[in-house]
Amino acid sequence: MQVQLVDQRETTSPLVNIQLLQRYCQQLLGLLGLSEKTLALILLSDAQMAQYNQQFRAKTGTTNVLSFPAGFPEEAFAATHNDLGDVLIAVETAAHEAREQGCSLMERLVQLSLHGLLHLIGYDHERSEEEALAMWDKEQSLLAQLFYTRRHTMPYLAVNVDHVATLRQAREAAEPDPVLAAALCELAGARGVVVHLREDRRHIQDRDVRLLRQTVKTRLNLEMAVTKEMLALAMEIKPDLVTLVPEKRQELTTEGGLDVVAQQKKIAAAVNKLRKAGMLVSLFIDAEAEQIQAAAEIGASHVELHTGHYCSAAGTAEEEREFVMLRNAAELAAASNLLVNAGHGLDYRNTDRIAALPEIDELSIGHAIVSRAVLVGMEQAVREMLTIIQQAK
Ligand code: PXP
Repeated sequence: MQVQLVDQRETTSPLVNIQLLQRYCQQLLGLLGLSEKTLALILLSDAQMAQYNQQFRAKTGTTNVLSFPAGFPEEAFAATHNDLGDVLIAVETAAHEAREQGCSLMERLVQLSLHGLLHLIGYDHERSEEEALAMWDKEQSLLAQLFYTRRHTMPYLAVNVDHVATLRQAREAAEPDPVLAAALCELAGARGVVVHLREDRRHIQDRDVRLLRQTVKTRLNLEMAVTKEMLALAMEIKPDLVTLVPEKRQELTTEGGLDVVAQQKKIAAAVNKLRKAGMLVSLFIDAEAEQIQAAAEIGASHVELHTGHYCSAAGTAEEEREFVMLRNAAELAAASNLLVNAGHGLDYRNTDRIAALPEIDELSIGHAIVSRAVLVGMEQAVREMLTIIQQAK
């Protein structure tokens, strides 16, 4: 293993996604042309860091990061030998700095790991102003390559027109027509149209999906359950993107993400079939590391992160918790080479923070836009949401 990551803290709080940090550090080694080298990264509490700071640098108090080249002091920190040396990071201090900078803990840990790594390969900001500048430049360009080049534009808005069909089905009439609504969404600037063809056909009908396949000019995203009937339909209609979702007959709306881990075999077979027929496949999942890993393993092109818990959070503390989970999940999914969509429950108040996450490719929003469209018109409702997404970026 190139990056040996040792968590020496007595508690795991604040929580660190070790695998993701390891992956980012391995990517940094690659960007520096050091893929063949090995590095030890040691996570410490502030108290442990203060002890090492005193022992090896005769300094009082803690610090955020320390680097020790290989062999000095001989195997003091890491269990095994490594080529480059040891980078020690105080996680509580990193978390505090992340809050001050308004970035994620993961982002701050990667910044500190890189800083320590650059010291190990000869950069030093304390020797002169020029060297400090050179180190700063190197850090910024590597971080840009790692984090900030994933998306150059704002996330795309894909409008879910299911509830236009809900209104139509209330009278089992011909209007309003979700196909016409979809065209208005595209005219207003939406980059995709989403429909969920449910087993009970409570809103979208087969006729709608067939017509939309012919009329949608941007991207048609068909949400569906993993059933034989739906798979056959997708194979015939060939939407641009298929989003696999769990479906219960009695639910008002989709209640949670797919359990890809528990249903790996069945979902993998569906993904394989659809991918082979040329479709992109997204899995609608909760913001959990094991679901993301399973999605990547079975060859999905995308995940759609379920934002429902964040949107329905009771109070700011819960909303913040849910947001941090989504942010971590988006980072992990992108680092696992998945494209990241997000949706469910997003509205004109809560979309901005999700739209600002750099990993998000597409936002799937339905109920809020259709509800507003009833009052202000579809094109205006879409444009207002686009403004929010644009400003968030
Ligand atoms: N994404 C998925 C997977 C969904 O099932 C739904 C609801 O149909 C949405 C996004 C859109 O949710 P909302 O209508 O709350 O915007």
